[in-house]
Amino acid sequence: MLRTHTNGELNLKHLSEKVKLCGWVHSTRDHGELIFIDLRDRYGITQVVFNPENDKKLHSQAQELKNEFVITVEGKVSERPKGTENPKIPTGEIEVIAESLAVLNASLTPPFEISSSLEPTEELKLKYRYLDLRRHESSKNIFFRHKVIKSMREFLDKNDFVEVETPFLTKSTPEGARDYLVPSRLNPGKFFALPQSPQLFKQLLMVAGFERYYQIAKCFRDEDLRADRQPEFTQLDIEMSFIDEEDIFRLTEELLVRVLKEALKIELKQPFLRITHADAINRYGTDKPDVRFALEIIDLTEELKETDFRIFKESINSGGRIKAIFTPSPEKFSNKDIDELIALAKQNGAAGMTFFKAVKGEILSPIKKYISNEKFNELKNRFSGDTDTLCLMVSDKAEVSSMVLGILRTKIAERLNLIDKNLFSFVWVREFPLFSFNKEENRIESEHHPFTAPTDEDMDNLEKNPLSVRSRAYDMVLNGTEIASGSIRIHNRDLQERIFKLIGMSEAEAKKRFGFLLEAFLYGAPPHGGIAFGLDRLTALLLKSDTIRSVIAFPKTQKAICPLTGAPSEVDEKQLKELNIKLRE
Ligand code: AMO
Repeated sequence: MLRTHTNGELNLKHLSEKVKLCGWVHSTRDHGELIFIDLRDRYGITQVVFNPENDKKLHSQAQELKNEFVITVEGKVSERPKGTENPKIPTGEIEVIAESLAVLNASLTPPFEISSSLEPTEELKLKYRYLDLRRHESSKNIFFRHKVIKSMREFLDKNDFVEVETPFLTKSTPEGARDYLVPSRLNPGKFFALPQSPQLFKQLLMVAGFERYYQIAKCFRDEDLRADRQPEFTQLDIEMSFIDEEDIFRLTEELLVRVLKEALKIELKQPFLRITHADAINRYGTDKPDVRFALEIIDLTEELKETDFRIFKESINSGGRIKAIFTPSPEKFSNKDIDELIALAKQNGAAGMTFFKAVKGEILSPIKKYISNEKFNELKNRFSGDTDTLCLMVSDKAEVSSMVLGILRTKIAERLNLIDKNLFSFVWVREFPLFSFNKEENRIESEHHPFTAPTDEDMDNLEKNPLSVRSRAYDMVLNGTEIASGSIRIHNRDLQERIFKLIGMSEAEAKKRFGFLLEAFLYGAPPHGGIAFGLDRLTALLLKSDTIRSVIAFPKTQKAICPLTGAPSEVDEKQLKELNIKLRE
């Protein structure tokens, strides 16, 4: 037996016991006479003492120890002398008086100190991730992730779901990113695509009659990276048959209630807030609303349609909308601050922005000439009540006015400290548009993916006015970040073919890419739908971490590189030859 106890285990109950411990030298303190070693393993730290009066040879052996050496120590548990206890750690009342020591492995001096509270640079952290993960600060995130996944698995298992692994070597799944391709040696000139998601296979499992499927699924997307995007990431992927939106909402809300309770001891209230996509855009200027704070966008077009202000008038006449937010604490915004907000509005596509301030009954505004004080006061009373306000107004196309104010809304909330960072505010955004317009390619495309069903009400408009059609797609948003996305699917071949046609896919191409799915729909496909959570995103948000790299054991950089292994790397000519691949200059 290499050890009798772990380093997080011993306390006064073990006094005088003879124990054997293993671990890494976390730190050494040489007090001349006595040498103290903090011995670390996954479970904690135990102080080991080497006293020359007990054993001179052992003491000089201990003098040779360096940080991160792997050692095993035998000794007796003893109470720490009064005044030297460490209440911060569970083993802080005892120490082990060493009787023997063996070095199991030496270590070079690490490129950063494991015991230091200083964060290594991101570059060093990723290059030496195995050392970084020795730091509690980093490893705790990975342990937390495990807890989240375990809780999800237990919940889904209890609810009759079956976990099924779907292939990595497969055909392209359209989720809006580029594919990672893998050449096939046995089929020269042909490639597998790594899945952007298990979408098509989970639908086929529904056709197969599995009814309730889930998978902790690796997904691969070759896209530009950001703090919340990695080229390979993990989804909690779910699909169910004979259900509608409400079934998915209820089930996944219960799942999150359980996860937050088990992982963070936080009680969430159900049902979560639900709003339509159109409402989200109107009220928050985004399809990912952060509902931890109010500052809702208000449409003032009706109120101001009689105004003499030329810019407003022209905009209204050409179908635009005047939208506004009423912020509290106007005294906190100097003219310079307001100018900066106006510049930000312009940077984000607004032609301009104007404002009025209502402070202690006084109105201050660059457009005072055109709008009476009574009108301003009336607006202030209606939308800000007794509270003084700064009202920011944008008149532009409805989407632009809302989107710009949506950006300002978050900026202002941060500035005025309106966001309670301890809150976890979940909201469902539903009825996304089925299509969006791709300006570069001058064609409509699926907003979510082409397997999403339109709403029954809008079915007749599919060909007549496709961009007005709402879909049965939904996102779950947490504190302003999209953490999950899903939909009720099409399960009927004719409808699926109509959608492919509408997004400009010829019959031949549809057959080539998705013929297998279209065929499967001919063999009794049940109505079905599902959802996928970005597991890395969810875990990072629960930990209040600003990057998903912190919850991935071996993440890649923003350039999609792994500094630890050096991947991606060149390959031998021989390998390329076998794959029938020739590199271009
Ligand atoms: P979608 O493409 O919206 O839907 O992905 C679902 C969730 O996965 C997360 N996510 C990512 N996380 C990290 N890095 C990335 N590059 C990345 N891309 C996406 C997001 C997102 O909400 N098949 C559908 C789901 C379905 O319809 O059931 C799908 O993949 O949190």
